[in-house]
Amino acid sequence: MSRTRTSDVLVIGGGIIGLVTAWRAAQRGFTTAVVDPEPGGGAAQVAAGMLAAVTELHYGEQTLLGLNLASARRYPDFAAELTDLTGHDLGYRRCGTLAVALDSDDRAHLRELHALQRRSGLDSEWLSGRECRRLEPMLAPGVRGGLRVDGDHQIDPRRLAGALVAACERAGVVFHRTWAERFDVVRDRAAGVTTANGTELGAGQVVLAAGSLSGRLTGVPDHVLPPVRPVKGQVLRLTVPKRYAPFLSRTVRAVVRGSQVYLVPRESGELVVGATSEELGWDTTVTAGGVYELLRDAHELVPGITELPLTETRAGLRPGSPDNAPLLGPTELDGLLLATGHYRNGVLLTPVTGDAMAHALTTGELPDEARPFTPKRFSAAALTEQPA
Ligand code: GLY
Repeated sequence: MSRTRTSDVLVIGGGIIGLVTAWRAAQRGFTTAVVDPEPGGGAAQVAAGMLAAVTELHYGEQTLLGLNLASARRYPDFAAELTDLTGHDLGYRRCGTLAVALDSDDRAHLRELHALQRRSGLDSEWLSGRECRRLEPMLAPGVRGGLRVDGDHQIDPRRLAGALVAACERAGVVFHRTWAERFDVVRDRAAGVTTANGTELGAGQVVLAAGSLSGRLTGVPDHVLPPVRPVKGQVLRLTVPKRYAPFLSRTVRAVVRGSQVYLVPRESGELVVGATSEELGWDTTVTAGGVYELLRDAHELVPGITELPLTETRAGLRPGSPDNAPLLGPTELDGLLLATGHYRNGVLLTPVTGDAMAHALTTGELPDEARPFTPKRFSAAALTEQPA
């Protein structure tokens, strides 16, 4: 059986990761197609858009930190290029982030984070509670101290997704607005997909970039099926009336009773409050409990939020991976590449993912900075290798 090639590159999934891959591939001269019923949809429609390489640093994720920082450094040029090309304003805001502590346990936790940031050579300044409130007067009087990280910025992921769709269209990317029903392998090589309406799409190289759905596409051989799972996040959107502005001038976040809460103020007056983190499979129900906990924790941080109109509640699915890092580049199946598993960092990692995937599609190799994120780290052979 052979398959007619409809493009050089076929990207399965039109979220921001699939779109940036398609856009960069088209810029390199590949004829490129994306299969997705709703390009620009997916987790980016829910995400807050924090570019938080420093404040979201976690123990054991130092390798990922390198990639996160590389992508953060690329953001100004990446955003300017997309805006120049499409005329879309991405809401890229170099506003900085303040991570605060509400009690002595939080304070100890933040002190630890600060020490880890300093050991990792990152810019982060410890502030007293009074200094935090001087920066952000809406903070609760009980704030016990915090970390000021001016380098952690934000972007509006919905605008980013819209701009990437426009950039793809301009670059000649073809959109197949349907589901990829089955992934097809011909003679031990990725051949393309069969869509929900029975159309066969063939390509020389296929990129699986379907976010949390990447781990369950029918037809992907088990040994290359990415170990990606959905991790639910509920997110709220409030509106700051003009008479209250500026309500917050930067992203404010905290860990309250062990849960992350963050408030991301946009120039438009939108205030995004996130996010739960729930291992509940494919469930995307917005629950009373999720909304209650987010509002309760956000209210402890910034009591004035209860005055604001609540304009939207939504849940999305992060594509979690076993080590919280993405899976990028060629797999052990010829012609199949992955760009998935970005977990909490999809928006942040968009620029570097586009560059790494374009490099991999062109050369067959990942660039040095992305090599640790090869999907082959989860192959049976790699997982049974004993450390020396
Ligand atoms: N990076 C924020 C989140 O995943 O909730």
